[in-house]
Amino acid sequence: MYRDKTCGELRLSDAGKPVTLAGWVQRTRKMGGMTFVDVRDRYGITQVVFNNDTDAALCERANKLGREFVVQVKGTVAERTSKNPHLPTGDIEIIAESFKVLNRSEVPPFTIEDNTDGGDDLRMKYRYLDLRRPGVRSNLELRHRMAFEIRRYLDAHDFLEIETPILVKSTPEGARDFVVPSRMNPGEFYALPQSPQLFKQLLMVSGFDRYFQIAKCFRDEDLRADRQPEFTQIDCEMSFVEQEDVIRMFEGLVKHIFKYVKNIDFTDPFPRMTWNDAMRLYGSDKPDIRFGMKFVELTDLVKGHGFSVMDDAELTVGIAVPGCAGYTRKQTDELTEFVKRPQIGAKGLVWVKIAEDGTIKSSVGKFFSDDDLRAWAERMDAKPGDMLLLLSGPAMKTRKQLCELRLEMGNRLGLRPKNVFAPLWVIDFPLFEWDEETQRYYAMHHPFTSPNPEDVPLLHTDTGKVRATAYDIVVNGTELGGGSIRIHDSELQDTMFELLGFTPEKAHEQFGFLMDAFKYGAPPHGGLALGFDRFVSMLAELDSIRDTIAFPKNNSGRDVMNESPSPLDPAQLEELNLEVLPLKK
Ligand code: AMO
Repeated sequence: MYRDKTCGELRLSDAGKPVTLAGWVQRTRKMGGMTFVDVRDRYGITQVVFNNDTDAALCERANKLGREFVVQVKGTVAERTSKNPHLPTGDIEIIAESFKVLNRSEVPPFTIEDNTDGGDDLRMKYRYLDLRRPGVRSNLELRHRMAFEIRRYLDAHDFLEIETPILVKSTPEGARDFVVPSRMNPGEFYALPQSPQLFKQLLMVSGFDRYFQIAKCFRDEDLRADRQPEFTQIDCEMSFVEQEDVIRMFEGLVKHIFKYVKNIDFTDPFPRMTWNDAMRLYGSDKPDIRFGMKFVELTDLVKGHGFSVMDDAELTVGIAVPGCAGYTRKQTDELTEFVKRPQIGAKGLVWVKIAEDGTIKSSVGKFFSDDDLRAWAERMDAKPGDMLLLLSGPAMKTRKQLCELRLEMGNRLGLRPKNVFAPLWVIDFPLFEWDEETQRYYAMHHPFTSPNPEDVPLLHTDTGKVRATAYDIVVNGTELGGGSIRIHDSELQDTMFELLGFTPEKAHEQFGFLMDAFKYGAPPHGGLALGFDRFVSMLAELDSIRDTIAFPKNNSGRDVMNESPSPLDPAQLEELNLEVLPLKK
């Protein structure tokens, strides 16, 4: 037996017991005639003591232990004289009687501690060492517990966990596919699923009624802190449901997990906001409603004063930032630089400071009188001490820019604490999104999302106005999940494909199997998928989903540990009947 106790479980009540521990050497300290060795495993750290006076040879060997050596220690549990209140095992230590080196270790490239000296790249290259750090490990422990609890909730609600294939035909979720060549079918390729969307709908046709899967999904898209090329969804589908049924079921799941992990009770239903309101009031379909600063439109008030920026703009919209009237010129310049950054792309920023004594300063005094500016403040319900920030330009673009500025001000004012959670449902998304570049409509969610029944008559006449029966669950400005009621009628599905610019042949080539299946009695159905990595990182209060994933990719989609992606061996290419073209400059 390598051990009979773990490094995390011994307490004062164990004093006097003989024990055998196994683990990694966290560190060794020599103090006078004593050597202290901290031994670590997944469960904790226990201090082991070697006494030069009682066994000089053993102590001498212990002094040679290096960091991360794997050891087995035998000894007796004793009460510590100087206790460590920061460690659960801090009241005791092990008086060593013998130990064995089970394996040696090279000096690790960074310290295995939460405050490590290892930079990001180094930690990713040696991810197996990074995962020994308690913080990273606890994220994966949380992930495990959440997965377990999610399964328990869904099982209790009659969902069946069913696996769907990884080698599939392309699924249209809006990103590029990762593709896999087929050796047995030269010149042909599988796609990796962007989600199990089509399969879960087929499972409803098969009568499974309630399906779920903790499913790996693959999307070849630009990466961000909350995006990985392979990620995990809690993917669900239900038959004989309307939007309200789906929302209720998954609001229940999200509440259950918040209670389980954070002991937070959301007793009221999550608020709901239409997509239109979300865009109008927050400039985003994933509003962070932890704080106010809602958008106020001023287009009509600002026109006609000779300020061409505002005169020519489709929209002028602003926020009243509480308590920032004291901002210095340097600070407002910083904000102007912020909105002008290429990622945001505003041309400039108008500010108005309303001092506590009512005096007004602004960046547009040349064009507007104090009374004009007071009218803005009144419309915006601004208080003395507030600063108004306004942007002008094309409506949607300007709203998105102001959204970034609002979030920045929220950060600056500490209004976005990670331990406060503000969930909501965003509903009534548009069914279609117009793309200027290709001059065609795209499905905002995916092509199987049902139009709002009230809007079906508009499909051909006012296509852009048609609302979808689609819903997203948003928490703290992050889209946690999304779903929709699906089209289950093959004629309506044909119309949808037509509006999306598919010829009947093209639609059949891509989705023929689904359209065929719908001829055999598809039940009304709908569902949703929650981003599991995002859910874990939110509850672990992390900035990126990377640290909820054991072996993540970096921002260029690379695994720097195993150095993938990597070129294929010529023999492998030959076998796959593939040729790699020289890189285009
Ligand atoms: P959607 O595309 O909205 O819907 O994805 C559902 C949820 O998955 C998460 N997510 C991601 N997480 C990490 N990295 C990514 N690259 C990434 N992309 C998406 C988000 C998102 O809300 N089939 C539909 C669901 C349905 O209609 O039932 C779908 O995939 O949290």
